[in-house]
Amino acid sequence: MDCDYTQIIHQRGYNSPAMQSHRELIVEPIGLNPDALARPIDFSALFGNDGPVELEIGMGKGTFLTEQALARPQTNFLGIEWANWYWRYASDRLRRHECLNARTVRAEAMFFIREHVADASLAVVHVYFPDPWPKKRHHKRRLIQEPFLQQVQRILVPGGRLQVVTDHADYFQQIEAVVTASPLKIIEYNRPGSAGEGEFVGTNFERKYRREGRPFHAIAAVKQVAE
Ligand SMILES: C[S@@+](CC[C@H](N)C(=O)[O-])C[C@H]1O[C@@H](n2cnc3c(N)ncnc32)[C@H](O)[C@@H]1O
Repeated sequence: MDCDYTQIIHQRGYNSPAMQSHRELIVEPIGLNPDALARPIDFSALFGNDGPVELEIGMGKGTFLTEQALARPQTNFLGIEWANWYWRYASDRLRRHECLNARTVRAEAMFFIREHVADASLAVVHVYFPDPWPKKRHHKRRLIQEPFLQQVQRILVPGGRLQVVTDHADYFQQIEAVVTASPLKIIEYNRPGSAGEGEFVGTNFERKYRREGRPFHAIAAVKQVAE
């Protein structure tokens, strides 16, 4: 990707002074040091079991990840987030809830996936409310484009799933087009069990946008099993 992420984080206001916490955010043992991670990561060694691994990209405050990690202790969850404050907040939250089946990394998603995620190693990739970059000249910064779909096809196990929810109609059109053009097969979107009444997924942004009355769009697709 050809952009400066430090500048983007600043532009998006994700590390603004308003985002200071009154209490100390403790990252360990959930938050991992990306420089110490293997290339690719051995998820069985990382989690200490052979359970399925689900990845959430841009977990923000970690609402979805925490609820899912608590609800499904046999599944391993990895959250990646590039904004330092959100990464720290989510890691601390998972730690306080003793979600030892979850880990987080502060990283840029495409870089992290290319460098650290092995072929056919993930059961689900979750992307909820990805940054829409509404200005046309910024569209190239959108995460869900053809190179991302190629990586998703590579890292999912056969039968593994991609799930995306957004409030942005124009970005959703683009997402639908690239998913349709990819080898993934579109399936019915199923709300996760942790979603509340009437919710698509139940993230922080969904709850905030819902109060503003915004419509949501969801898509799910599976990696097809070779015959
Ligand atoms: C609009 S927020 C949504 C947060 C959360 N998923 C929710 O629904 O409440 C998008 C989040 O994705 C993160 N993000 C955006 N692009 C990313 C990338 N390429 N790699 C890692 N994190 C990213 C942002 O820092 C931000 O926290």
